[in-house]
Amino acid sequence: MRKLKYYIETFGCQMNDHDSLAIASMLEDAGYAKAPRPAEADLILVNTCTIRDKADQKAYSQIGRWRLLKKEKPEVIIGVGGCMAQSDGRGVLSRVPFVDFVFGTQNMHNILQMADEVRQKRLRPVWTAMPGDPAAMEALYSHAKADGIKAFITVMQGCDNYCSYCIVPYVRGRELSRPSAEIVAEARKLAEGGVREVTLLGQNVNSYGQKGGDGADFAELIRKVGEVEGILRIRFTTSHPKDLTDRLIDIFASEPKAMPHIHLPVQSGSDAILRAMNRKYDRAHYLGLIAKLRAARPDIAITTDFIVGFPGESDADFEETLSLMREVVFDNCFSFKFSPRRGTKASSMEGVVAEKVKEERLARLQDLQLGHTTAKSLAEIGQKRVVLVEGSSKAGGGQLSGRTPQNRIVNFRGDAALLGREVEVKITAAWPNSLAGEL
Ligand code: 5AD
Ligand code: SF4
Repeated sequence: MRKLKYYIETFGCQMNDHDSLAIASMLEDAGYAKAPRPAEADLILVNTCTIRDKADQKAYSQIGRWRLLKKEKPEVIIGVGGCMAQSDGRGVLSRVPFVDFVFGTQNMHNILQMADEVRQKRLRPVWTAMPGDPAAMEALYSHAKADGIKAFITVMQGCDNYCSYCIVPYVRGRELSRPSAEIVAEARKLAEGGVREVTLLGQNVNSYGQKGGDGADFAELIRKVGEVEGILRIRFTTSHPKDLTDRLIDIFASEPKAMPHIHLPVQSGSDAILRAMNRKYDRAHYLGLIAKLRAARPDIAITTDFIVGFPGESDADFEETLSLMREVVFDNCFSFKFSPRRGTKASSMEGVVAEKVKEERLARLQDLQLGHTTAKSLAEIGQKRVVLVEGSSKAGGGQLSGRTPQNRIVNFRGDAALLGREVEVKITAAWPNSLAGEL
């Protein structure tokens, strides 16, 4: 019998990328094969994002592109899932009449069951319950497989922080940690499959173990993963400044496998805006954390996220953000225009900032950051860095590619047999987003 084929399109964050990999692996374990193109698939899935309005638009326009395909091949099953699907629920079916089923963020392990309901009972199931079931998480992530030198491990789902702009708590549900024993077992399985670097994923990894889990906190989890033979490097994302404890900062000084890079979203440099965002820290606290991190690990790379044009953000507030940037000098950042999200507190706040002002602020911020990113990158020239060889360079020419401990991409000439090994590379040239070097 011909194998059924699947195709997955993914939008959004690393968490979504990883969920899609786990879904793919789950489908393969059930006998499906990957289709190279949607037109050849029996089951088409979209894993959506809804963090900003643009994300919703992207997902709907992608789904729209399959209209013709579905007309020509009505037996193909199309499932829409993830954050936007969780938010819109049944609304997805009315907006896009040819979609067959909708799966929420905590229903990914049920995709095959839903596809069966479509195939056999001609139903259009919408499963968006968020029961916070630890077994559901394991049912999905137990399929995780090694695929290359690097892998993600989801250590927790959901978020309880309710930053006033953020839709995540509504679409991913309550915070829930996986037991450290399961995470370590997954790391071991990945290492046996050739993985040398793991990134521990969660919306707020610093509060790992506070809800669910098995008693270990995040610092302990990192140490336990560090004991896994074969794992050379540990990274994690995302950290929240209000939960970054001294115990965790010490990990950067004391755990050799913890890589010197932290993504620590600050969002704004203005105390008034941080308060309105419900971030639960102020500028001084954030700057204190930066000082402690640099004391613990002088070579640490620090990246962040910013939102510009939050309701009520004045020119003076925005200047505070720029001044914080000049004070910290981030290695890099992601920056976004505030986008009102359904059900969030900020979506009904007064002091809406005009689109044009948002755009101007974003451009100024990105301009300042580009200068910092470039300067930090140029400062790498002449340094010797230990690079984990990940594969061949996108630039081609028989070059290898890997990353420094600080997570900068380095391209250099070398033997493909070095794949998966750490090698010392002298940095000889630098661009804002990559380096070149010599073994
Ligand atoms: N508008 C703009 N940016 C947002 N982010 C989260 N919610 C919004 C929103 N409503 C940004 C934050 C967060 C990153 C993942 O996305 O900066 O850290
Ligand atoms: Fe959103 Fe805040 Fe949770 Fe991050 S910590 S996911 S910004 S609510």
